[in-house]
Amino acid sequence: MPVDIQLRAAQPIDLAGDVLVVGIPQAGGKAPALPPSLHVIDTALGDALSKLAIKEEFTGKRDQTLSLATLGRIQPEKVVLLGLGDRRSIGAPAVRTFAAKAARIANGEKAKSLALALPAGVEGHLRALGEGLELGAYRFTKYLTGDRKPKTELATVVVGAAGKLKPNAKAMIALGQKVGAAVNLSRDLSNEPGNVMYPETLAAAAQAVAKEGALKIEVFDFKEIRRRGMKLIDAVGRGSRHEPRFVHITYAPKGAKKKLVFVGKGITFDSGGLSIKPAAGMGEMKHDMSGAANVIALMAAVAAVKPKGVEVHAIASCAENMPDGDAYRPGDIWGSLDGKTVEIVNTDAEGRLVLADALAFARGLSPDVIVDNATLTGACVVALGNTCSAWYSTDEATAREFSKCLDDSGEQMWRMPLLEELREQIKSDVADVKQAGDRWGGSITAALFLREFAGDAKWVHCDIAGPASIERPMAWMQAKGATGHALLTFLAMVERAAR
Ligand code: BES
Ligand code: MN
Ligand code: ZN
Repeated sequence: MPVDIQLRAAQPIDLAGDVLVVGIPQAGGKAPALPPSLHVIDTALGDALSKLAIKEEFTGKRDQTLSLATLGRIQPEKVVLLGLGDRRSIGAPAVRTFAAKAARIANGEKAKSLALALPAGVEGHLRALGEGLELGAYRFTKYLTGDRKPKTELATVVVGAAGKLKPNAKAMIALGQKVGAAVNLSRDLSNEPGNVMYPETLAAAAQAVAKEGALKIEVFDFKEIRRRGMKLIDAVGRGSRHEPRFVHITYAPKGAKKKLVFVGKGITFDSGGLSIKPAAGMGEMKHDMSGAANVIALMAAVAAVKPKGVEVHAIASCAENMPDGDAYRPGDIWGSLDGKTVEIVNTDAEGRLVLADALAFARGLSPDVIVDNATLTGACVVALGNTCSAWYSTDEATAREFSKCLDDSGEQMWRMPLLEELREQIKSDVADVKQAGDRWGGSITAALFLREFAGDAKWVHCDIAGPASIERPMAWMQAKGATGHALLTFLAMVERAAR
C-alpha cells in the first residue's frame, strides 16, 4: 500500500504525527542555531531542543541527527532533526535521501504517522520527496507470521512546506511515489527466494507490469528460445527443472525520436552449475536476477512518467543455473544468437552467457543505446565493495551522458576501464571466444566478453554485483537511506533522452 501523503504550507508546530522529522540545512557559522520555525516547539519543550543542539554540536551537517522525546508537551511523541548539509548542495538526491531517512526513522519508532517539515527552497524537488518516502518505508516482511509480523506500518505522512507550493505539487509527489513503488517492486522481486521466483514466475511478474502500464510484452518460452537460436541461454538454462524465459517489454509512444534498450541478467538462482559454488553464501544467489528485476520494474516507472519522444525496451534474460545430467559443462563449445562460438570454462560464469544472447537480440532492435545491468562478478565486489557498482562504456559521448544520469539519481557507480591487454585472457584455441578469463581483473574480462556481443552498438554495461547481492535493502540501503540500485539512473537516461 502506498503511503498516504498530505501536503500543506505549514510550520512544524502545526503538523500532526506520531513522529515529527524536521530537515535542517547547515547553519552558516559554527553556532548550532535552531531555525526560527522551531522556536515555538523549543519553548514548549522548555528549551530542551536548543540545549541538546548545543550539547551535541548539531549544525545541520549532512546526516547529522538529533532526537528528543517530547513527553506530551507537544503532540508528536518524538522530534527528530535531520541535517541536510549545505543549502546549495540540496538537490533531488539529497531530498530523496532525506525523505527516505525520515520514513525509516518513522518505521523504527513504530509510528503510524509521520510529520515531515521541509526547509524553504526544496519545493522544486517534491517528486524526489515522494520517491524517498516510498523507498525508506520499504520492508520485506511478507514471509513473517504471528509475532514476527510488524505490528505497525507507516500509513500517513503530513508534509509541511515552508515556502509557496506550485499548483502541480501534489501531482509531483504522487508521481514520485509511483517511481518509488517501481524501485520497491524491483527489491521485492529480488528478495523473493528461488523456490518462488524462477524464470516462469519472473516472466509472470513482467506480464503484470506490462498489463498495469498498458505496455507491449513478449515472453519466449524454452521452445521459442531454442527455435530462435539463443543457444547460450539454452546452455545455461538446460540443467534446471525450471525452464528459461526471455522477456521483452516495449514502451513505444507515437513520434519517438530515440530508442533505448535496457537488458538485465535474470538468473533466478545461481548454484554455479557443475562448477558448483561453495555452500557459504550460496543463498545470496537468489538475488542473481536483480538486473532483470531492475529493467522490468523500470518499465513500471516509465509507464508512470510517460516520457514523450523516446521508445524504451526492457529485455530480461531469465534462467536458473543448476547442476544436472543435462547441464552444460566446462569444456563445452556452444554457438550463440550472434553466431560466435564460445568455449565454456566455468559453468558459474553463466550471467555473461544469457546476456550475450540478449545483447545480440537488443542489437537487432537498432537502438541508439543499449544499457545492460547484471550481478555479474564477485571480482567487482572485491574491487568496489558492496555499496558501489562498476560501469563500462565503449563510447565517450554515451559515457558523458551516463555520468550526468548518475548525478541525477545520486546512485553510486564507478567507471572502470575496458583494458585491451586483458583481452588475451578470453582468447580461445578451439572457439571464437573463451567464456571467462583467469583470476585477475574478473569484472573487466567479463565486460570484455560482453563487448564481443554488443558489437558496434553504443553500449553501457553495469556490474551491480555488490549492491544487489546483499540482502536487499538491509545493510547498504539502511546506511544510505535510499534507492534500489541502477533503476533511478536508467530512468534518468530515459527522461534525458525525452528532453
Ligand atoms: N552471480 C555471480 C557473481 C556474484 C558473486 C554476484 C558474488 C554477487 C556476489 C556470477 O554468476 C559468478 O558466479 N561469477 C563468477 C565468474 C567466474 C567463475 C569467472 C565469479 O565472479 O566468481
Ligand atoms: Mn555464477
Ligand atoms: Zn550469476
